[in-house]
Amino acid sequence: MAKLRFLGHSCFLLSDEGGSVLIDPFLDGNPKAAVGPDDVNPQVILVTHAHGDHLGDTVRIAKRTGALCISTNEIAVDLQGKGLNTHPMHLGGTKNLEFGSVRVTPAFHGSGIAGGHACGFVVNLRGKRIYHAGDTCLFGDMKLIGERDPLDVALLPIGGNFTMDAEDAVRATGLLGARCVVPMHYGTFPPIETDPESFRRQVEQVLGISCRVLAPGQEMEI
Ligand code: NI
Ligand code: MN
Repeated sequence: MAKLRFLGHSCFLLSDEGGSVLIDPFLDGNPKAAVGPDDVNPQVILVTHAHGDHLGDTVRIAKRTGALCISTNEIAVDLQGKGLNTHPMHLGGTKNLEFGSVRVTPAFHGSGIAGGHACGFVVNLRGKRIYHAGDTCLFGDMKLIGERDPLDVALLPIGGNFTMDAEDAVRATGLLGARCVVPMHYGTFPPIETDPESFRRQVEQVLGISCRVLAPGQEMEI
């Protein structure tokens, strides 16, 4: 059974009987982190971009576990130079993995590294499809992401300031057509304070789509 666990900010652990995938492991120094960097044992780590609140503890966790680190090319190459097991990809690419696949989607945001590119991911975990938007503004091509892969869950930033705000995240939810949406990237620091319950009400009342507001540490079945 596939599970999604929110670890705080934009960090999620996807897992089933076969293993786990960790996304954007910002744990050490994250005031909302549910676990520490030594408490997770993923087989794969996905990094949407190299800002500290996303790259986070990737190096520390990957060195301990030997996890395969996947990101856009420039970030992956940089991680390779730090001795990690990496697989460089770029926007539009799909990689098949033992548990399914990972596809790299665009994100409108800085990469945090010279010449790089921020991204999002669609993870296919044995048939369950999860979209992690990374840090991004709203963009109309989110419709295409949902058309290619009927999404079971969409993980969307709602905190504003560095990303889209809750109002645009409601519109993003409508474009993606996901079965369920989970808000992220809010409340960790003062500039991204917002009310996730107001987002939930709009998604459910205006769009009729299910929204789960997860507290750090909480998990849901997919
Ligand atoms: Ni960022
Ligand atoms: Mn961020």
